[in-house]
Amino acid sequence: MEFSLSDEQRQLQQLARDFARKEIMPIAAEYDQKEELPWQVVEKAFEVGLLNVGIPEHAGGLGLGMLDECLIGEELAYGCMGIFTVLMASELGITPILVGATEEQQKRFLTPLTEKPSLAAFALSEPNNGSDAAAMGTTAVLDGDEWVINGTKMWISNGGVAEITVVFATTNKSGGHKATVALVVPKDAKGFSYNKIKHKMGQRASLTSELVFENVRVPKENQLGGLGDGFKIAMKTLDKTRVPVAAGSVGIARRALDESVKYAKDRAAFGKPIAEFQAIQFKLAEMAMGIETGRLMYQKAAWLVDQHQPHGFESAIAKAYCSEMAFNAANEAIQVHGGYGYVGEYPVEKLLRDVKLNQIYEGTNEIQRVVIARNVLK
Ligand code: CAA
Ligand code: FAD
Repeated sequence: MEFSLSDEQRQLQQLARDFARKEIMPIAAEYDQKEELPWQVVEKAFEVGLLNVGIPEHAGGLGLGMLDECLIGEELAYGCMGIFTVLMASELGITPILVGATEEQQKRFLTPLTEKPSLAAFALSEPNNGSDAAAMGTTAVLDGDEWVINGTKMWISNGGVAEITVVFATTNKSGGHKATVALVVPKDAKGFSYNKIKHKMGQRASLTSELVFENVRVPKENQLGGLGDGFKIAMKTLDKTRVPVAAGSVGIARRALDESVKYAKDRAAFGKPIAEFQAIQFKLAEMAMGIETGRLMYQKAAWLVDQHQPHGFESAIAKAYCSEMAFNAANEAIQVHGGYGYVGEYPVEKLLRDVKLNQIYEGTNEIQRVVIARNVLK
């Protein structure tokens, strides 16, 4: 058993840590307030090699593994979970292409993303179907050599600005998951439009959109896998991409701990720093316990992904455990800050708003428990 990172992984981690401190942390609060995606961060991530890192070498990418991606993710989220979501939702967008596409398709769709700063998106959720993803209502009808897509997708990260969006649709609404297809839709496809969703509670530096498809035509060659494979491609994708959400959650918890330690040493009450009260120390200890445990869990899940071993059970545990642990850490960080924690002057207020989403997206934590329980019972 090996617990240490390779030299390359440590360098990658340092690169991402420096990137978060230099490019993300100084602007995070501003873009959260503006509710705007900081495109310059996407450009800089591209320049330094932190964007779309999962694109394989044969398609012109870096071909990094899941553990590498998670090490990056933990650092990005330490800086800002909203900006993490911009960059990691792009990795999510390319993953169905890694899971379900031919090598020719991977080159056709992914190589352009390596040539300029570009994002990808993953469009599964709909206004009426989130957890029950197989009940999708967006339709795809074959007309000659083209698929014609109609319907609405909801809550799509990077939706509308992504160069490519993998869209899941049904060819027959009564056919369940066996009638689903995964289709790659380019940004400029005719009939494809989006509406930005405003006033999110947190992660406001990420763009979340409703996507509207009105007779959008894509060639048959944009279909990933076979007819009926759409839902399974989505599930196999999420089994992998829930791991970076766990890593990002650990990043948030680490930030909550660091901010709390700093504040607890500075703030005095009853004639001494509050760090000297055992009640405060126990909160810090609790955070540290969660961070260490959560990191072990996400790293194990990431390792299984990289070893091509079954990983759905572990990724669901990592996602649910780490997001709940990070929520508690952010909550306690506010408590440590007292009244100052409740306003935007200190970063901990934003941490709590941001981290709530980690319990909802990439499958709610109730759905993670459905996955975990099915594994336990089978
Ligand atoms: N891998 C491969 N195949 C799988 C699978 C997996 N992980 N899970 C299910 N399948 C297969 C099953 O074997 C079954 O196949 P057969 O019929 O051939 O046997 C088929 O898929 C249907 O399986 P289920 O009956 O188990 O499916 P279900 O309808 O009960 O749904 C679910 C299962 C786990 C609840 C699933 O619907 C789910 O994960 N829902 C949550 C959706 C979700 O996570 N959305 C996230 C959107 S992305 C996002 O949020 C990103 C972001 O914020 C940035
Ligand atoms: P519902 O499915 O309606 O669930 C409502 C409640 O019921 C939840 O508590 C849920 O856990 C519970 N519930 C439902 N079914 C069960 C069950 N079987 N057992 C127990 N409890 C259950 N989706 C994408 O496809 N791509 C994206 O990029 C993306 N980005 C997102 C970004 C943001 C900011 C947000 C808010 C969401 C994003 N989503 C995205 C959607 C997200 O994945 C869904 O919101 C999520 O899967 C839950 O679906 P829902 O909102 O329809 O809730």
